[in-house]
Order: sequence, then C-alpha cells, then structure tokens
Amino acid sequence: MSLATDRDTSGFHLVGKLLEPASRIDPYPVYAEFRARGPVWVDEMSSLVVTGYRDCETLLRDPRLSAERWRFFDAGRSADPYPPDAPPSVRQPWFLSMDAPDHTRLRRLVSSAFTARTVARMESSVARLVDDLLDHAAESETFDVLSGLAYSLPMTVICRMLGVPQADERLFHGWSAQLTRLLDGFSDLGETDGATPEWVRGSVEMHRYVGELVTDRRKSPRRDDLISELLAAEDGGDVLSHDELISTIVLLLVAGHETTVNLIANGVLALLRHPGHLAALRDDPGTAPAVVEEILRYDPPVQLTARLAREDVRVGQAEAPAGSLIILLLAAAHRDPEANPDPDRFDPGRAQVRHLGFGFGSHFCLGAPLARLEGRLALSAFARRVREPGLVADPPPYREHINLRGVSELRIAHAGV
Ligand code: HEM
Repeated sequence: MSLATDRDTSGFHLVGKLLEPASRIDPYPVYAEFRARGPVWVDEMSSLVVTGYRDCETLLRDPRLSAERWRFFDAGRSADPYPPDAPPSVRQPWFLSMDAPDHTRLRRLVSSAFTARTVARMESSVARLVDDLLDHAAESETFDVLSGLAYSLPMTVICRMLGVPQADERLFHGWSAQLTRLLDGFSDLGETDGATPEWVRGSVEMHRYVGELVTDRRKSPRRDDLISELLAAEDGGDVLSHDELISTIVLLLVAGHETTVNLIANGVLALLRHPGHLAALRDDPGTAPAVVEEILRYDPPVQLTARLAREDVRVGQAEAPAGSLIILLLAAAHRDPEANPDPDRFDPGRAQVRHLGFGFGSHFCLGAPLARLEGRLALSAFARRVREPGLVADPPPYREHINLRGVSELRIAHAGV
C-alpha cells in the first residue's frame, strides 16, 4: 500500500489553530489535543506532526531523516531571492541544516573554537552586563523586561565574544530580527513580486559587514576573540573557507539571539506567575540551573524542529512519505506524562527534568553552555535585585511566531532594584 493513501487526514489544522489569538497566549491545550492522537499527518503542511517524547528523541537520531529542511520550504519559493551582487556567503547553507559528512566537518571545526572554556571565560562580564542593564531599567517605575534585559543581553554578549566593535552592535539587532524569520520556518517571509523582502536585504547587509570584519581580522588577528579563533581553527589540515566562516558567524549571531531572549523572558514570566519559586531562587541562587532547565521544558524558546524524510518513514500508526516534512513538536513532547510526571506544573524542584529544548543527537545546540550561562545569571539577578515585581499585563502580548515562542513586551511594576 502506498504511504500516501494510508494517511490520517482527519481535518487537523495545526498552523491555523496555533495562529489563533488564544493559542498565541497558550498553545499547550492544542499540543495536548495533538498528543492524544499520537503522530498525525497534517495535510495543511504536508507534514507528519510528532508529539510523543520517545518518538521525538528517536527520530532526532534516525539516519533516514535529513536536516536539510530548507529543501522543503525552498520548493515553494521563488528560485533565488538574492540579488546578483550579493556576497557568495549568503548562499552558503548553515551547518544547522546540513547532514553528515558536511555537518560533521563544519561542526567539528567550529566546536574547536567555540568551547565551554570560551563560554566560561565570559561569566564575570555577563554578570556585569546584567547588573548594568538592571540599573538602567530601574530608572523608571515600570520597565519592560524584554527590551530592558532579555533583548540586549544575548546580542551584546555574542557581539563582544566575536569582537564586533561596540558602536556597531546595534546594527545586529535589526538584522537579527529580520533573519529570525528564517529560523521560525512558518513565518511569512514577506515575498512579493519584484520587491526585495526585508530579510533578504538584512541578510545581504549582514553578510557584507561580517565579511569585512573577517577580512580585517585575517590581516590583524587578536588573541581573545572568537572570529580570530575561528580563523585559526584547524582539523587535520582542514580549515573553514571564507564563506563558511561568514555563514557560521551569521548563524551564531542569529541562532543565539531570539532563542536566548525568549529563555530569559519566558523564564521571568513563569517566575512571576509562581512567586514561591521566585522567592526560592532569590533565597538560593544555586537553584538557578534547575530553574533554567525547567523553563526549557515547560515553555521552551524553540517549540519545534523539523526533518525531511529521505525515504518512507512510519511512526506508530502514521506515515510520512519520502520528501515530506516531519515536524517534531518538542514543546508538546516535554509535556508527555511518560517523560515528565505532572507535566503541566512548573516545578524547578523536579527530581528529573527531561527536555529536548536544545535538540538531541548530532545537531544538539552548540550554544547551550552560553544560553545556560546567560539564563542562569539573568534570572538569578532578576530574583535577587528586583523588589516586589508584578506583571502590568497578564497575559502579556505575544509575537506572531509559531516556533520561536516569546512575548513582544513584558512590562513589570516594582518597588526598586
Ligand atoms: C542548534 C535551541 C541558544 C547556536 C539548536 C537546536 C535547538 C536549539 C533546538 C537544534 C535544532 C535542530 O536539531 O534542528 C536553542 C535554544 C537556545 C539556543 C533554546 C537558547 C535558550 C543558542 C546560542 C547559540 C546557538 C546562544 C550560539 C551563540 C546553535 C547552533 C546550532 C544550534 C550553531 C546548530 C548545531 C548543529 O546543527 O550542529 N539550538 N539554542 N544556540 N544552536 Fe541553539
């Protein structure tokens, strides 16, 4: 029997449901509805949606699935969105969306420069930055945690690690917002006949800027920045090409920004709604790592990832024919009671927290140590320093994104910082 005729097409409209205002605020009831059905084929997206924890974990290691999901999305797009004079690196795919052996080669080279040690060196400067941001935010009676703390921190940190001149950091905020649409996967990319979409302009500008930075650093390497370390990275005589280097730097800037912003903002929101856990964190900053892991499970910044089926793949009773997309709804899997008992409860004190918030397998998030460091320092400083914080609006407004879940504002009142 052909896989295509054996699908469950019983009227599920995942994207439509998730875009409804109530689901923007709280998508978890929709996920629960999906999980109750097991893996289900969704015609609307020509995709198999998988919600069980064990299924997601298994599929993330399944060699029949490819990370080259852009092939699926590109099939529906105009041929080449970039202008002819765009730098060649804009067409260099990110290793996030590559398979072995190309992925293995690039990841190995990048990991040799972007190490846990490189990240650990940042601890005191990240802590100082968090304090400066909170000092500044506290100048008014209410402040927006998103723009005042969560948004600036990750971009400033990665720009400083890379060695981007401080005066240019603000350029990256605009570019990152435009390129984040590429990561979301379901965002409207705003393609119009004739006019160049914003994300294409942003991407071209960012690649040009990073290309100049790399050329500059090649002429005069420094001892202590990540671009110089990436330039020096070598594995058995192999090095990153100029375009691979630019593409990787853009990936680090984009993949690490909105995600960490949402970790901090989703975290502050969860703590404000659970004052007992906020007080516990204030009394014992040593619990911050557990708080971060629980947020990655309970309200993860990356809600889903996707893979392309290289061949027909059966998951439980459902099937994905070769060439279709398999959507792994990580945020739904985290609330699978088989993985985490009482999954709808926010509880940083869980004996064991199981999550796929940084992915799993060969594409496990390269920036996880940095994201954990920033999350830990930002949330513990918030708990320690902000007196009597309270939400001005609950629920706060959310962004349109389906995958990169986060608020568009998180205004709080406080009694001092
Ligand atoms: C991969 C989540 C922060 C760089 C991933 C993946 C997830 C993820 C789920 C796997 C995607 C897949 O398998 O399809 C997150 C979250 C973050 C975060 C939730 C913040 C809370 C960062 C940071 C950086 C970063 C700070 C770097 C500065 C990367 C890279 C990959 C990746 C380079 C690709 C790894 C590979 O394909 O081998 N991230 N990330 N991420 N992340 Fe993160």
